[in-house]
Amino acid sequence: MQHLQEAVAFIQTQTQHFAPSTGIILGTGLGALAKEVEIQHEISYADIPHFPVSTVESHAGRLLLGTLSGQKVVVLQGRFHYYEGYSMEQVVFPVRVMKLLGIKQLFVSNAAGGLNPEFQISDLMLIDDHINLLPSNPLIGPNDAQLGPRFPDMYAAYDPALLARARAAAVALGQNETTQRGVYVAVPGPMLETPAEYRYLRTIGADAVGMSTVPEVIAARHLGLPVLAVSVITDLCYPGQLKPVVIADILAAAAVAEPRLTALMKAVLAAE
Ligand code: HPA
Repeated sequence: MQHLQEAVAFIQTQTQHFAPSTGIILGTGLGALAKEVEIQHEISYADIPHFPVSTVESHAGRLLLGTLSGQKVVVLQGRFHYYEGYSMEQVVFPVRVMKLLGIKQLFVSNAAGGLNPEFQISDLMLIDDHINLLPSNPLIGPNDAQLGPRFPDMYAAYDPALLARARAAAVALGQNETTQRGVYVAVPGPMLETPAEYRYLRTIGADAVGMSTVPEVIAARHLGLPVLAVSVITDLCYPGQLKPVVIADILAAAAVAEPRLTALMKAVLAAE
């Protein structure tokens, strides 16, 4: 808590107490939304006390504060993955910082493999539930009651009202055909899955698989924040479509979907 408070105090001093209402975490290859923000303040993670620093060169590692669709937002440009070697506490540190800066809701995006045979490359999937197959979670350890309850409920981890708004926005934007809905399963990575693992993940009820998001969502629910999370389907992982994954192809598929994701998130924000 003291580390959180020091990080928050630093950001507040740098930004004249800018108070964002929405926090946004952008996934791999999905940074374009940041370009739409009318930026008022930009802070390198490296300058924020106790903030983890991105190990991935391509991740910018900056906190952006500004306005998007008429709403005050804070955008994490570069997220922290468990496979990079961070502790769960480090992975979710930015979520807790954003909450203490004043956010009332959290939007998250990620790149994910499609397990549902109805999905196509570059579809969006509105996450309506998740399965955590990471070996830990950010709430393990003594509970800090100032952050949230010991046993947070996960009945509607993905906010039904935000999901309804995202669905309506997809229809209004003519994106209904490419906007799916489903269950995201988080795995540790960093390797992709074997064919048998993909079959297993489909069997246990997942529609898409990725290596992020679930820790942040657990921390957000612990903090009482409503969450909207969207996967971009970057590769197809069901029988008949499975082939070796090339990271360049994943980034290309993310780039194709990015304008739709950006439009969708902006529309949901504008509907506030
Ligand atoms: N598996 C895990 N993570 C991923 C995948 C995948 O197939 N695609 C994008 N992120």
